[in-house]
Amino acid sequence: MQQRPVRVPDLKAKKQRGEKIAMLTAYDAMTARLLDRAGVDALLVGDSLGMVVLGYDNTVSVTLADMIHHTRAVARGTERALVVADMPFLSYQVSASEAVRNAGRLLQEGGAAAVKLEGGRAMLDVVKRLVDVGIPVMGHLGLLPQSVNQIGGFIRQATTPEQADALIADAHALEEAGAFTIVLESVPSDVARAATAHVSIPTIGIGAGPDCDGQVLVSHDMLGLFDTFVPPFVRTYAHLAETIVTAGREYVADVRAGRYPTSPQPAPTPTSDVR
Ligand code: KIV
Repeated sequence: MQQRPVRVPDLKAKKQRGEKIAMLTAYDAMTARLLDRAGVDALLVGDSLGMVVLGYDNTVSVTLADMIHHTRAVARGTERALVVADMPFLSYQVSASEAVRNAGRLLQEGGAAAVKLEGGRAMLDVVKRLVDVGIPVMGHLGLLPQSVNQIGGFIRQATTPEQADALIADAHALEEAGAFTIVLESVPSDVARAATAHVSIPTIGIGAGPDCDGQVLVSHDMLGLFDTFVPPFVRTYAHLAETIVTAGREYVADVRAGRYPTSPQPAPTPTSDVR
């Protein structure tokens, strides 16, 4: 594993060497520190924040202030992984100038190294402007959660030959505009495979099969922490929701039964921090 910090060009170099990219989401410093220690290449401060941390039904309510706040926390906890911040709904769609200002804040105040935004050819002007001023852009095609109201739900995309062709054209256009990677969300494996073969920048899949150049998951899903709804493509590597509820129940029972705290309490030393 590369020890020095991962930088934007490292991801393309990985594609060229045929090495897969592992990305996970993070929203706070402690989780970022643990996942960074686990060796992920990139940490995405996704606007999935809205659903798995802030309790919204979708990502539309997430604000730029929310994203800056959580990106700053993730950047503080990260030593090695590339920190990528999602541009929230309405922070880049209004105009390219607003997009530059808002993306700039995610780098300047949030400490991100790059931003991610949703959309293909409709977003080319914005992508070009950001790249021109030195802000690396990760594209996002397929299921675009910020358009959930238009789509009518979190529904698989690019399922017809016409939609598949449009997605590949979008991927190509994003590469031309200077994007350094593209997330492909909830599209058939063969479409993701074709898009991956068509572009020289890495594709990072989520629910897009095994042939992308990398994979990303929402960490709360793969850690078994967000149990309200688990997308079918998620592999659950831990069961933290269960662990937390069990620990919480044991604590409640111990307090009620007088088993915690036990006496005598360990005495703090004069120099120890009691917290
Ligand atoms: O917000 C997010 O977590 C994302 C991932 C699903 C790629 O965009």
